[in-house]
Amino acid sequence: MDQAELQRPDARHALPSMDQLWMPFTANRQFKAAPRLLVSAQGMYYRTHDGREVLDGTAGLWCVNAGHGRAEISAAIARQAQEMDYAPPFQMGHPLQFEAANLLAGIAPADLNKVFFTNSGSESVDSALKIALAYHRARGDGTRTLFIGRERGYHGVGFGGISVGGMVANRKVFRGALLPNVDHLPHTYNAEHQAFSRGEPTWGAHLADDLERIVALHDASNIAAVIVEPVAGSTGVLVPPKGYLERLRSICDKYGILLIFDEVITGYGRLGTPFAAQYFKVTPDIITTAKAVNNAAVPLGAVFVRNGIYDTVVNASPEGAVEFFHGYTYSGHPLAMAAAVAAQTLYKRDNLLTRVADEGIGAYWQDALHALSDARHVKDLRNIGLIGGIELESRPGAVGKRAFEAFLGCYERGVLVRYTGDTIALSPPLIIERGQIDQIMSTLRDVLRTIA
Ligand SMILES: Cc1ncc(COP(=O)(O)O)c(C=O)c1O
Repeated sequence: MDQAELQRPDARHALPSMDQLWMPFTANRQFKAAPRLLVSAQGMYYRTHDGREVLDGTAGLWCVNAGHGRAEISAAIARQAQEMDYAPPFQMGHPLQFEAANLLAGIAPADLNKVFFTNSGSESVDSALKIALAYHRARGDGTRTLFIGRERGYHGVGFGGISVGGMVANRKVFRGALLPNVDHLPHTYNAEHQAFSRGEPTWGAHLADDLERIVALHDASNIAAVIVEPVAGSTGVLVPPKGYLERLRSICDKYGILLIFDEVITGYGRLGTPFAAQYFKVTPDIITTAKAVNNAAVPLGAVFVRNGIYDTVVNASPEGAVEFFHGYTYSGHPLAMAAAVAAQTLYKRDNLLTRVADEGIGAYWQDALHALSDARHVKDLRNIGLIGGIELESRPGAVGKRAFEAFLGCYERGVLVRYTGDTIALSPPLIIERGQIDQIMSTLRDVLRTIA
């Protein structure tokens, strides 16, 4: 946003009535008492209702990877809205669906070349779990119905996602209605062995071996899939220990269990490779994505599936029969597809899917983040690619309070960060410049100095 635009006196917006909206994942009463509204965005910056510029340290919600207000994407959406607003996705198609799937298959790892469209990460997760069940059944292995998630995992808010997920707050109220056939691996975080690791911690690969115990308990013949985030984001940036994902892969292979990577936040360049699977050189059977698939301009999710899984499910049905009874009214919505094609074209043209590695941004980010090791209240620092986690010492009896105050302090000083528990989570757009990384870190240092 240019400075003249930002400083326009009419840039201030009157606040609307707030009574009617029930806000998601928000302390509604607290928010409505002191609202924080974002009214426009360009490049690396938001502008607030009270006319301030705020540097986006979170790419919205881990999703606006190419930065805000990209003209190519909004023009493509506008063009598509004029040409055809909507087309039914069941038994009908439109060209952009196929074009988008082709582009996505082109950046997918190995043979994950079949793409199923959803509208969100939560729907991608539910779709992936259903694909796993359909695959085993099509192979005549219909007893494989158990899913293995992981403690401290986040897989969205559908009943499938909260069942395999491992965040207590997202599960406890809904406990009685979770999927019945689920077990969990232990999470991979251990402060004693891993604190202040740069990138992947060296300790913890053995935690994957717990899958052997789970297999021994339930028997492989009952297990459909293991689902993990390659890097857990929502529970505070938990980077996988070196070798951990390889071990999970090999145990899954040993027992014919599908491995699902939930790449809703790691997909589309966040680690300096198109997907985390390529970064860690571990190929899962299914990848769930959403968010940055189209730079978050229109809701969209995409599930990537190995060719063999698609072939098995499709070939198990008689010719002319619907092979997979699943889909959404908005699967492959024309506006979302137009945005996906434009965003993927932009990512490719500007080398955004590899910029974090190629241009040394990830290395600069790591050094800048770890320079906070002597900042006040800092208990641990974690990073990988263009993701950072700053864990603060919790105040006794008030977990999350200090991080909330840090979030507010940063917002007041013009930097948007996120917090979960007492961890500040950072994931800026991939177009970030070094000076902006410095601004995020120096703002955090100053804010941490001022809060109790
Ligand atoms: C790993 C992961 N899976 C799933 C989701 C859910 O995505 P959505 O909010 O689009 O449903 C998220 C959201 O942050 C996520 O981080």
